[in-house]
Amino acid sequence: MHHLPITVAKDIYFIGVFDPDIRTFDIVMKTANGSTYNAYLIKTSEGVIIVDTVKKEFQNDFFLHVEALCSYEEIKYVIIHHIEPDHSGALPELIQRAPHAKVLISPQATLMLKALSNAEEINFETIWTNKQLILGEKTITFLTTPYLHWPETMSSYVHEDKLLFSGDVFGSHYYDKRLFDDMVGDFSYAFAYYYDHIMRPFKSYVLSALALYGRFEIALIAPLHGPILRQNPQHYVDLYRQWSVKNKPKNGNKILSIFYLTSYKNTQEMAQSIMEGSESVEGITTNMYDLASIEEPNMIKILEESDGFLIGTPTINADAPKPVWDLLACLMFLEKSGKTASAFGSYGWSGEAVDTIIARLKSLKLRVPPLELLKIKLIPSQEELQTCFDFGVEFAHILNGKMIEMDL
Ligand code: FEO
Repeated sequence: MHHLPITVAKDIYFIGVFDPDIRTFDIVMKTANGSTYNAYLIKTSEGVIIVDTVKKEFQNDFFLHVEALCSYEEIKYVIIHHIEPDHSGALPELIQRAPHAKVLISPQATLMLKALSNAEEINFETIWTNKQLILGEKTITFLTTPYLHWPETMSSYVHEDKLLFSGDVFGSHYYDKRLFDDMVGDFSYAFAYYYDHIMRPFKSYVLSALALYGRFEIALIAPLHGPILRQNPQHYVDLYRQWSVKNKPKNGNKILSIFYLTSYKNTQEMAQSIMEGSESVEGITTNMYDLASIEEPNMIKILEESDGFLIGTPTINADAPKPVWDLLACLMFLEKSGKTASAFGSYGWSGEAVDTIIARLKSLKLRVPPLELLKIKLIPSQEELQTCFDFGVEFAHILNGKMIEMDL
């Protein structure tokens, strides 16, 4: 969908493309309103800077937008904030067409750049926080904002226009050709949905990025997807901060969540005894949740706020039942590093589920303490319930910082 270049600020233009028909993005995201691949062009008296490109299948429109504003010979720099193919798809062709262009990327992007473009020699330079590009009338400061949401992601700030190029940060999958937040329809659902699916697993990195952005007065945020934010940019910054700050209990306790599934109340009884054990330790708040009737958004929220969690699972047909796997799938959407986790359960005749879930927790890089496997055949005896209690006590001490040797 070709359109005339759209002015974003003085001598800064939107040269991105619209993808109104896309309905699923990156396999997991629903995009009811389509999306946009935003790219920008900065004109100065000393040459042109291209800021990001677009998905390859849309590159013809992208090049039409470039050609409407400058000749390829005038392009001095191509800044790539994020090398994922939806933003670097047109880069190999752009490098071919623009003979004097130097690509500016973060050090983490260099190997990916070489893999993307088959060119023997790529004219590039690496950039990081505080490095500056001054070309003609524009001064651009680069900001390293990693893991938002790839290791190499960057942002940059144009001083003269108080404009932040934020990469995927502050993006929305929301197509509206009116493009600016004060002109388009209500896209707040898409803004929040994008955060939840892309940024939420990297909350601590979001907070680091916000600290860097906080050095500057921001009049305009130009992200890589969806509306350009100019009406009240601080509002979006505040939302990201609010969503990224971890809610800690007022009493400072560590939170242990016990999720369980139960057919005959045996695994539930185990959970209850573990909870009594952990609650007997000072500084721990333990909560139990029945996986049979808890919904996914709530699982994510509870997991996110938990310092540790336990999964109580029966074994059915040599596996853990689906709600347990659904819980594990939620871990994709949150910051899980540093969380301590394990599993337990009652079983009828084979009991593989506990081993399987513990192996999965380990492969997800959770901190799984080397405790004795807590598997009980059918109805737990008083002695076995005492073992569960002791397990709860030990797990609570580990959450409180007791040193343990991890088998990796
Ligand atoms: Fe919009 Fe992470 O690519």
